[in-house]
Amino acid sequence: MSCPNSVQIRRLETPSNREIEGLSDVLRDCVEGGASVGFMVPLTGSKTEAYWRSVLESATRGERVVLLAEEATGAIVGTVQVIWAQFENQPHRADVAKMLVHRRARRQGIGAALLAAAEHCALSADRTLLVLDTASSDAERLYVRRGWQRVGTVPGYALWPAGGFCSTTIFFKELRRGPSRTAAPDQPGNLPQFDNGGRPMRRIKSRKRGEERRGSITGSTWRYRIQGLRSSYARSR
Ligand SMILES: CC(C)(COP(=O)(O)OP(=O)(O)OC[C@H]1O[C@@H](n2cnc3c(N)ncnc32)[C@H](O)[C@@H]1OP(=O)(O)O)[C@@H](O)C(=O)NCCC(=O)NCCS
Repeated sequence: MSCPNSVQIRRLETPSNREIEGLSDVLRDCVEGGASVGFMVPLTGSKTEAYWRSVLESATRGERVVLLAEEATGAIVGTVQVIWAQFENQPHRADVAKMLVHRRARRQGIGAALLAAAEHCALSADRTLLVLDTASSDAERLYVRRGWQRVGTVPGYALWPAGGFCSTTIFFKELRRGPSRTAAPDQPGNLPQFDNGGRPMRRIKSRKRGEERRGSITGSTWRYRIQGLRSSYARSR
């Protein structure tokens, strides 16, 4: 499955009114279709336009990247944002947000193409850990297919557009470039590693075999669970 050839994914650089209208149309269609993406119905044109203008100002300040999916006719049918983590202790992290595909263009691979482009964009900027949350089961399947890991669900996190609480599910994906998995843990630029339970993993030496494995830090002591071995051992802080 791939994005139709007639649809192009590109980064929005200097937005025109036409693009703001197109993005507003996609947002309004998704919200009217029941997507919990920050807005309630009825969603007015002035609200969607104000939202996109503020997003694009933020992109101009270098805080995020806005990608869009555009048909050959110029019609915008989808979008996604990569928002750089602002804190100085998270130079390797970004959020993926507002992945939206117009209902008339769904199930053609555009969502998958937008997500792939967002990941590529993040990795190009040396962001190697991506986080997102979603209330959509359609989106969940897409994230899992592209290797994202499910962390858990927060019940009653937000409202559906027409009212009523909805839960959100948090995902992360670690992006890898080349042989980064084997880099030393405390070196700058090293990728943070997580196990399937979302726990941070450190490279450690197995006492039994003297070989290095990835392990998890759990509990009040540094307990390294060695992957691939049944046994574990603890070291006091
Ligand atoms: C989630 C969302 C972005 C997915 O967009 P999309 O363009 O439909 O995504 P894709 O086309 O890549 O994949 C959707 C499905 O179509 C299928 N598909 C993709 N290309 C296809 C093709 N050529 N023929 C048939 N099926 C296809 C995929 O396998 C997938 O199947 P699944 O639903 O059984 O898992 C879209 O549903 C959406 O905008 N939802 C509302 C907004 C929202 O909630 N966004 C999430 C915020 S985090």
